[in-house]
Amino acid sequence: MTIVPKFGPAFTLENAEAKGLDQLKRQAEHCTRCDLYKNATQLVFGEGPPTAEIVLVGEQPGDREDLAGKPFVGPAGRLLDQCLKEAGLDRSRCYVTNAVKHFKFELRGKRRMHSKPNAGEIQRCAWWLGAELDILQPKLVVALGATALYSLLGAKVKVTAERGHVLQPANHPPVLVTIHPSYLLRIRDEEDARANREHFVQDLAKAVAFQVG
Ligand code: URA
Repeated sequence: MTIVPKFGPAFTLENAEAKGLDQLKRQAEHCTRCDLYKNATQLVFGEGPPTAEIVLVGEQPGDREDLAGKPFVGPAGRLLDQCLKEAGLDRSRCYVTNAVKHFKFELRGKRRMHSKPNAGEIQRCAWWLGAELDILQPKLVVALGATALYSLLGAKVKVTAERGHVLQPANHPPVLVTIHPSYLLRIRDEEDARANREHFVQDLAKAVAFQVG
């Protein structure tokens, strides 16, 4: 299957308006492409070395990430860090980012409850993810869950069908498909949680071959 990425810029350096990640982040801080900037505390941009060979893409920042201004620093991030380590990957050598760069939530009393970004929000924010990839030119992109996969490759590619596979889309770095770590946090049955965590580590281990430098 030839997969042509849909929402981000074409994967060419010429299309990147900013030449560096810092400059791109400064531009993103003023983003009004969708309304999510209005209620979020701040932009949560990607982080990691500009030489990273592997880019990990999550869904959107959560409550902790929104307050810290950094991706994957809450419970899902801690679990991701442990699983990366078990898979033989070093997070400090990866670039970690999200499909959507602002926290979307609903207020329940004083609590800010995670709310899923809709297709339009994901599509508008895909411009930034595409630009990050343009600059980084990674050897592999890891799609953590359905939102990341939709942002990268559009609606035709499903996590359930492609999980654990490395896809080779046209004009795009390869994409390893797996679940989002927060899925593991929601599993109540202990044995089920253990088996799913092990499966996630096995998926991530497929990225090791791409971290060569
Ligand atoms: N979940 C995500 O998808 N991204 C984060 O940064 C944190 C939690």
